[in-house]
Amino acid sequence: MSKTVTTEPTRRDFLYIATASVGAVGAAAVAWPIISSMNPDASVLAMSSTEVDLTPIAEGQIITVKWQGKPVFISHRTKKEIQEAENVKLSELPDPQPDSARVKKGKEEWLVVIGICTHLGCVPLGHEGEYGGWFCPCHGSVYDTSGRIRKGPAPLNLALPPYEFTSDKAIKIG
Ligand code: FES
Repeated sequence: MSKTVTTEPTRRDFLYIATASVGAVGAAAVAWPIISSMNPDASVLAMSSTEVDLTPIAEGQIITVKWQGKPVFISHRTKKEIQEAENVKLSELPDPQPDSARVKKGKEEWLVVIGICTHLGCVPLGHEGEYGGWFCPCHGSVYDTSGRIRKGPAPLNLALPPYEFTSDKAIKIG
């Protein structure tokens, strides 16, 4: 009787691979505090600002970057999302602010907000909720495509970090 030899990875191999990559991530995560404690000046500098290349962010996509230990959402808004944000009556907003005050003039397709719910600090989920912006699953706050609070217990819009465009497709946060 012939024996079939299989080269398929076994379940055990998969578990091993998964464990190995978790290990690698863990090692990277602990490396940062050690490096930063060796060179406090450089670490303070690195923490104070974050440069982001916007080129890979497709229209309609939201990415999260870290700035000073906080999540920052960068949303490459579609025309529809921009229009929805601009067409809202300020009287309908719990924290009234026009969309134009939340984006840079001429760069309305880019919304940059701190990704921390203004209720109790959870990280809201992008492209969720009835206003197409963010939804915070902790207690049900709903934000629109300008990151403004529309429903739920959060009292304020998602905060705006200080940032500037360093070129047509790059920003520096902080
Ligand atoms: S922390 Fe977001 S709704 Fe409570």
